[in-house]
Amino acid sequence: KQRVPFIGANWKMYLMPDQVIPYIETIKDQLPSPDQAEVMIAASPLYLWPLLDHAKGSNVIIAAENCDYHDTGAYTGEVSPKALSEMGITYSIAGHSERRHYFDEDPEIVNKKVHALLRNHINPIVCCDETLVRTETDDDVHWVVSQVIAAFKNVDASDAAKMMIAYEPRWAIGTGITASAEEAEEGCALIRQTISSIYSPALADTVRVLYGGSVTPKTVKALMAQPDIDGVLVGSASLDPNEFLKLIHY
Ligand code: G3H
Repeated sequence: KQRVPFIGANWKMYLMPDQVIPYIETIKDQLPSPDQAEVMIAASPLYLWPLLDHAKGSNVIIAAENCDYHDTGAYTGEVSPKALSEMGITYSIAGHSERRHYFDEDPEIVNKKVHALLRNHINPIVCCDETLVRTETDDDVHWVVSQVIAAFKNVDASDAAKMMIAYEPRWAIGTGITASAEEAEEGCALIRQTISSIYSPALADTVRVLYGGSVTPKTVKALMAQPDIDGVLVGSASLDPNEFLKLIHY
């Protein structure tokens, strides 16, 4: 694979203020060089400023978990993508399964967030979930494909190349049930084929596709060995810095 491996933590809403600086201090000097693997931590907006400060000069990318699709304005409680960009944020998750499920983010909203991030020079990591227990039904496959098509709507090829897509079956998120390497590969390959049919095989070859859902230091290696899996997005197993380090150095 030509694509640089990507290991992303998604802290979600788990860590408390006294945990975040010790965490970053534990990992920041033990990271691979960016040409070997990129390491990212997506955190609550509460923590982004101090994290950026403490991560300065290290190889960890500090990212947002979500943002609004307006740049600025009267949107109480929302996170401005323009402000994220001006703070130095270069990556953000968009359309995580929990956002789609609990906060009613439909594919159109996710696409608006993609455009908001791109116009603010932030690389979107779009998550595509899978709502049903995998049964090989057409509906399952169509849902993943339709989320990919919707995410890339009106995105030109040069911007599409800046995006990553994560395949995150909902039944695997936070459940301790990692998809088998074969199941994860099937989902990621489907996403790459979809990108290829929207743009071109050459572009699909450059876009990194990630797997997320109960990844652990034990399951990461087999996942990363799959031809279409370029990285992982890790929730629970990223909450302990030493566990996350094991995962990074799988
Ligand atoms: O973004 C991360 C995924 O939702 C996976 O979370 O590793 O706790 O299953 P998890």
